[in-house]
Amino acid sequence: MTDFTYYAPTEVVFGKNSEEKIGKLVRKYGGTKVLVHYGGQSAVRSGLLDKVCAQLEAEGIAYVKLGGVVPNPRVSLVRKGIELCRKEGVDFLLAVGGGSVIDSMKAISIGVPYEGDVWDFYTRKAFNTECLPTSCVLTIPAAGSEMSNGSVITNDEGNIKKDYCIDEFRCKFAIMNPERTFTLPAYQTACGVTDMMMHTMERYFSHEDDMEITSAISEAVLRTAKQQAFVALSNPEDYEARTQLMWTGSLAHNDLTGCGTSGDWATHMIEHELSGMFDVSHGAGLAAVWGSWARYVYKLRPTRFARYAVNVMDVPVDFRDPEATALAGIEATERFFHAIGMPVSIPELIGRPATEEEMQKMAQMCTDGDTHTVGVFKELTSADVLEIYRAANR
Ligand code: NZQ
Ligand code: ZN
Repeated sequence: MTDFTYYAPTEVVFGKNSEEKIGKLVRKYGGTKVLVHYGGQSAVRSGLLDKVCAQLEAEGIAYVKLGGVVPNPRVSLVRKGIELCRKEGVDFLLAVGGGSVIDSMKAISIGVPYEGDVWDFYTRKAFNTECLPTSCVLTIPAAGSEMSNGSVITNDEGNIKKDYCIDEFRCKFAIMNPERTFTLPAYQTACGVTDMMMHTMERYFSHEDDMEITSAISEAVLRTAKQQAFVALSNPEDYEARTQLMWTGSLAHNDLTGCGTSGDWATHMIEHELSGMFDVSHGAGLAAVWGSWARYVYKLRPTRFARYAVNVMDVPVDFRDPEATALAGIEATERFFHAIGMPVSIPELIGRPATEEEMQKMAQMCTDGDTHTVGVFKELTSADVLEIYRAANR
């Protein structure tokens, strides 16, 4: 087991009408002037945004609004948000939306007290932990940003997608009302399920497997996401299924499934280049490359993949041949992705094969020009990453 610190300070307020507690929560955490940050249209159409603002007004808390966050959130809007917060004297941030809105809010939170350009943090030119307090009303279970320490931002110039992770980014509170996810399109529901599964799998496929409680929690998280996906896709207004998925998404990425393991994260790094370059949904990008990553690395520890195959994917165990069981588990995962409408290759993801030049560029960017490897299960060089893109391009 790897020694660990578990830090999950976010106050989670979960259930029907939980957004009615917003005013009191903002006050509790010291907010006096709030930036309400949101995305395209979903929170406006559903009336959620108006309800959130009404709660702030009822509590006598001043606010300004900034919408327009797009999936794969852009640094250009983050910069606008920073300017707005400075001009208006904002001291507390509230995101209404999914991972993109929450990540954009986190970037604004660190940019406000910083004199330089906020992108410096994402390129590792600057390191700082001073930021405004953050909070959210979650509308899609997926990225897990509501409890995570990460923010992933895309630079509009060059479509470069980078993350910055500090504990100070963790939300003071997260409001989660599963009813708010009834309006999710099937594709976004499936992307979310894939992402929460991948957050668990990135930690599960590690070199340490002696932390039995963590392995068992991870398998429960994965089985729950898999089962409830079908229920939510067949009936988008199934409250119980939406409930399971919403909490599963948070548990998958609040580090609970990583206690005692080192984690891998190669699939995420490989995917971030795809969503940076082609502006595709993060969850779909993960589904498109995971099988190729898994086939590239599984021989390093076939027994771990075999355990996953049996305990998560219900594959019958072949005691004489763990590699065969492992491979059957990878295939079953890809069948599952297809069954929920996810791609399992780059052509399925972007509608055409990637060119060799595009794949070489992504492999270079993924390793910052071969200055570091990605992943821990197998430390991948840019040549390895390129092979994985090529395998996923068939
Ligand atoms: O913009 P609107 O109109 O709100 O539409 C959104 C968006 O088009 C829509 N949506 C959200 N809630 C809805 C809804 N539509 C109808 N009803 C609702 N209730 O869904 C679309 C996707 O939203 P987005 O926020 O982009 O989804 P997600 O939560 O999957 O976030 C993806 C982003 O998070 C990053 C990803 O890279 C990507 O940029 N990640 C962030 C992480 C973190 N901070 O810890 C970790 C993840 O691994 C991930 O990298
Ligand atoms: Zn993810």
